[in-house]
Amino acid sequence: MLALIEKLKRERILEREEFRALLSGADARADDRLRELARETARENFSNEIYVRGLIEFSNYCQRNCLYCALRAANRAVERYRMEKDEILECCERGRELGFRSFVMQSGEDNYYTAEKMTEIIAAIRARHPDCAITLSVGEKDEETYRAYFKAGANRFLLRHETISPEHYRKLHPPGMELAPRVECLRALKRTGFQTGSGIMVGSPFQTIDNIIDDLYFLAELRPEMIGIGPYLPSRDTPFAGEKPGSAEDTVRLIAILRLMRPDALIPATTALATAEDDGRERGILAGANVVMPNLSPAGAREKYRPYDNKAGRGAEAAEGLELLRARLAKIGYAISAERGDHAEFIEGGRCQKT
Ligand code: 5AD
Ligand code: SF4
Repeated sequence: MLALIEKLKRERILEREEFRALLSGADARADDRLRELARETARENFSNEIYVRGLIEFSNYCQRNCLYCALRAANRAVERYRMEKDEILECCERGRELGFRSFVMQSGEDNYYTAEKMTEIIAAIRARHPDCAITLSVGEKDEETYRAYFKAGANRFLLRHETISPEHYRKLHPPGMELAPRVECLRALKRTGFQTGSGIMVGSPFQTIDNIIDDLYFLAELRPEMIGIGPYLPSRDTPFAGEKPGSAEDTVRLIAILRLMRPDALIPATTALATAEDDGRERGILAGANVVMPNLSPAGAREKYRPYDNKAGRGAEAAEGLELLRARLAKIGYAISAERGDHAEFIEGGRCQKT
């Protein structure tokens, strides 16, 4: 096992059977070593600095019906809200005052925000905050729309593939929702010039170890600049209400593996991980994660943006809890970076949009 971990560090990839052995994670000593090497790798690339992004959940309307997510259109139990441009700009302003230089605009797939409306919002943020990074997490659109977003000043885009198995994808989604368009969107985002993020939920219903191994090979091939990994957490308002949650331990192990595969990727310790375990955020960072995304949404919105039950949104998960976050990170030897935290290739390669 230990030799496998050294090999992963050296070669950044393993054979299927080797991944299988590592992912089964029976051996505590091997797990310790895996996390240690991943942590060292993150330190070599990012020192002890953690990038922060202010998360703005600007609409919880969604036209889709993913079986795992409580924001699904069919769920009548959520109170829906959407924010207009001015309210979004206020969030950014508040975030900027708190010290954020990177915003993540997240919503369900909400067609109220036409390409025109969305580009207007992006351009307005860009005009007021020329030195900040703008990340979008708004789902599948056509390539032309992605290009319009980019041109308006967005720099990054998050779109998890969720699983690279078409069969598994079908089990997680309603009839008619297919994997292929999702993957095509990811390729379009990369072509457009976005720093692109993808990823999966760990322990989602029907997921097998082979699914995860395929996801690892897919991520190795796609080379997203950002990789978001969180445990699947059930919501009582979904068809998967009775399914068991994914484990924090499996999530942390996967973060460590991905860090060794992609030493310079931006990997968050996700809100789902912080929800699964009180010390989930810290455990993610100690396994090589280097990003945290505190919530900047107004309090009312925060309560209503709940893809799964008990979502963390207070304390160190809240933007106004930045001091608490700082203290918790300091306890494990980390500091919050003041930088906007672009992927290295987008800074050195001169592709980084400063304005
Ligand atoms: N548990 C964990 N993560 C979830 N997401 C959606 N629903 C859940 C859930 N029940 C994740 C998906 C999506 C991201 C924005 O949130 O992976 O891509
Ligand atoms: Fe909508 Fe995204 Fe939830 Fe799917 S995961 S129902 S697209 S908000």
